[in-house]
Amino acid sequence: MSHVITLIPGDGIGPEVTESVVRIFKAAGLDIEWERHDAGVIAFDKTKETLPIALLDSIKRNKVALKGPVTTPIGQGFTSVNVGLRKALDLYANLRPVRNLPGVTSRYTDVDLVIVRENTEDLYAGLEHEVVPGVVESIKIITERASTNIARFAFEHARTFNRKKVTAIHKANIMKLSDGLFLQSCRNVAREFIDIPYDERIVDAACMHLVMHPEKLDVLVLPNLYGDIVSDLCAGLVGGLGVVPGANFGREAAVFEAVHGSAPDIALKNLANPTALLLSALMMLDHIGERATAAKIRAALDSVLMKGAVRTRDLGGEASTTEFTDAICREVQA
Ligand code: NAI
Repeated sequence: MSHVITLIPGDGIGPEVTESVVRIFKAAGLDIEWERHDAGVIAFDKTKETLPIALLDSIKRNKVALKGPVTTPIGQGFTSVNVGLRKALDLYANLRPVRNLPGVTSRYTDVDLVIVRENTEDLYAGLEHEVVPGVVESIKIITERASTNIARFAFEHARTFNRKKVTAIHKANIMKLSDGLFLQSCRNVAREFIDIPYDERIVDAACMHLVMHPEKLDVLVLPNLYGDIVSDLCAGLVGGLGVVPGANFGREAAVFEAVHGSAPDIALKNLANPTALLLSALMMLDHIGERATAAKIRAALDSVLMKGAVRTRDLGGEASTTEFTDAICREVQA
């Protein structure tokens, strides 16, 4: 079956890792027409927009996009394209499965977590102002609607995929109103899913628990900021940012992207590990009904990682992005 999918190469290592996925999909015989669109600084140079309307229209039409990372200037400059995209398409749920990969050595061996991060509000609403010189204010928005939606997404995911339990992560002891509302919304939804065990942890204690006993946690549901931070922590449990995928789901569209950013320190050097984006793209294939091909590519990736002869530098190897991609292409065609 043929598919039309929006492709955002992004910047930094984005074009390198997206090209890797495009080549692997071609090697696997998938019939995909990619609609390529720029975002961020590259788009701005061409169109004076960081999130062009044509890009949003393409995703609305195709319902599915694969996205490379997009750089956000720190402390100044334009607001995050990633946050803008999630808000514009109401991609309210960010799903990040964190699992050990075969052949990838890490500090832990039995990690199998699912992070469900609220994607549209919290401190990421971007509401900041200077009250008087030397005093600034960032506004944390938490709504019952978004908190209920993300909690329901987490419980439905847990039920569909036979997960063990859902844990809400919060700081409601300090932010009694905002995190208190998030927590109360999770509790309300938990009552609708009495078949799924539910508990709660304060975010700082949850971080300690994650690095001591990650195997004891299962599905985590978090507001936006804690979800962002805890995602990178969890990536560190299984081998780093090069191996953890992600997906943003809304009611009308889904955008698949890795947890990592544009990695300016290794950009344009053919050093990036494309595994995280490839795993995100495999989630995308499952989403569009190409499960058999997704399984075939996953088996090829596992085989290359298990053999261990060809792996990128972040996993202790010497291979370039291109050499690692070539190895998976060969395996998928074997
Ligand atoms: P980062 O995730 O880009 O990099 C952190 C570290 O992990 C770096 O040492 C990098 O080399 C390494 N790394 C990341 N991905 C890798 C891969 N695939 N293979 C091998 N090593 C990898 O985080 P950083 O440096 O904080 O952010 C850089 C830029 O990316 C910022 O502008 C940030 O706003 C943006 N960003 C974009 C995201 C997105 O588009 N969804 C997500 C996170 C950050």
